[in-house]
Amino acid sequence: MLRKLAISTAAALALLTGAAQAAGEGGHVTNYAFSFDGPFGTFDQDQLQRGLQVYTQICSGCHGLQYVPLRSLAAEGGIGWSEDEVRAYIEQNFIEVYDEDLQDWRPAVPNDNFPANDSVGAPDLSLMAKARLGFHGPWGTGLNALVNGIGGPEYIASLLTHYTGEEVEQYGTYLYENETFEGGLISMAPPLWDDAVEYADGTPATVDQMAQDVAAFLMWAAEPHMMARKQMGFVAIIILGIFSVLLYLTNKRLWAPVKARAKGTQPAE
Ligand code: HEC
Repeated sequence: MLRKLAISTAAALALLTGAAQAAGEGGHVTNYAFSFDGPFGTFDQDQLQRGLQVYTQICSGCHGLQYVPLRSLAAEGGIGWSEDEVRAYIEQNFIEVYDEDLQDWRPAVPNDNFPANDSVGAPDLSLMAKARLGFHGPWGTGLNALVNGIGGPEYIASLLTHYTGEEVEQYGTYLYENETFEGGLISMAPPLWDDAVEYADGTPATVDQMAQDVAAFLMWAAEPHMMARKQMGFVAIIILGIFSVLLYLTNKRLWAPVKARAKGTQPAE
């Protein structure tokens, strides 16, 4: 019996690890330390502004952000701009949206969303930080995700920094070897290089820095109310704690006479 159990456990483990290997190359995710990690983490406003700059100057050439309202750049708990700064951003970057009524492009206003972009078939990035799982395992249990979060921003930052420099041509298109992308070959050419942008706040624009900044920005884009949600969760836990104490005391009080009576009638042990 025991032997049988041992054999089937070993077989199951072998299958699971085999499956992990069969998934091919890719899958490497670095566990970057983001300011918003953990129950008390918050977005770093400067980092979000840098990330927006990277998105605007580089990623937006291929990727849209069509579910994110431009005015949310002025919302609390995020980039921290004023409404005027949002207008200036739109103007300086010539952001245009396609107007269904006019059947034409027109300059955006803060009430519009960021434009969509399907010029090269790149996926929209609005929800990307929540659509990708950076942490899973071990062996599909999801324990790692439970402890470290789903790892969307870690996945994005890793994807941008783990090109090997190799490229292959397949059926006339170029694919780039990437240690994070599932399968190991992605059709997105490495979008970042050192000093690809010049940060307004003087931060050195290394590939690593830009990757983490834009990943943080995309986390904010996918979940702009993360801070409020964490705060609410925290308040809920405090209230639940207070209620538990009250409930315990009430319970004790209610049963006290019964207990006292029971003690009185029972023979001493
Ligand atoms: C020259 C066009 C281009 C630029 C610039 C570009 N991308 Fe991409 N990106 C693509 C394409 C095409 C894909 C689809 C790749 C695939 O599925 O093989 C993609 C895919 C992605 C994915 C999804 C990967 C996945 O797991 O499916 C992410 C995340 C991403 N890009 C982030 C970025 C970020 C962040 C930037 C800016 C730093 C950026 N991209 C700049 C073309 C681009």
